[in-house]
Amino acid sequence: MTTRAATDLFSEWAMKNKDEGMERGHAASVTEMLDMSLAQVNAPFSAVDVGCGNGWVCRALEAIEGCTHAVGVDGSEAMIKKAKSLGDGAFHLALLPQWKPSERFDLVHSMEFLYYLKDPSQMLKVLHDEWMNDGGVLVAGIDHYLENSDSHGWPEALNVHMTLMSESEWKEAMIAAGFVDVEMHRAAAKDGFVGTLVMMGKRR
Ligand SMILES: C[S@@+](CC[C@H](N)C(=O)[O-])C[C@H]1O[C@@H](n2cnc3c(N)ncnc32)[C@H](O)[C@@H]1O
Repeated sequence: MTTRAATDLFSEWAMKNKDEGMERGHAASVTEMLDMSLAQVNAPFSAVDVGCGNGWVCRALEAIEGCTHAVGVDGSEAMIKKAKSLGDGAFHLALLPQWKPSERFDLVHSMEFLYYLKDPSQMLKVLHDEWMNDGGVLVAGIDHYLENSDSHGWPEALNVHMTLMSESEWKEAMIAAGFVDVEMHRAAAKDGFVGTLVMMGKRR
């Protein structure tokens, strides 16, 4: 059986308001990701959320002093429609990795997006080379990774492609993409959850 596009799955979720549960579920990890990345970004800064879903992280970023603007990008029509209905930020309906922004950013944030791609390592390189200002910071979180065995059944359960990589493979991909000062963290780990794997790095 062929897999369905992740963007179709998430449009279905948006129409069933399942984006709200996802927002609540991701909040603890994203709070840690923003804390660690904002400590490394100089204000004023611009930001982009890649695979932004309903745009909740963009709204959080725009509320932070020093953030000039936050842009959201997602390939799900229903998610972007919802994002636009919930605030007046800039949201782009676009399939990645093909789409390119018309500006570069100081902070690139992404939560639970990268592994839906066939080649996440290439996306990291494109983000580094084409989306970021010099000195910019990328922070990305993923819950589907080798060390999180509870996540291994997700592709089959959802019939969606997911690329499974280990923590060390993600780190190597960050370095190969050109990032420096690469750090790997586990965010929001608790009993029964090994944590969101967070990668953070700088464009020199
Ligand atoms: C698990 S959701 C996470 C959404 C949001 N980051 C959050 O934390 O609520 C993954 C998002 O990535 C988007 N996505 C998946 N593959 C994509 C692609 N190739 N291009 C653009 N967006 C994509 C989906 O439409 C979905 O909204």
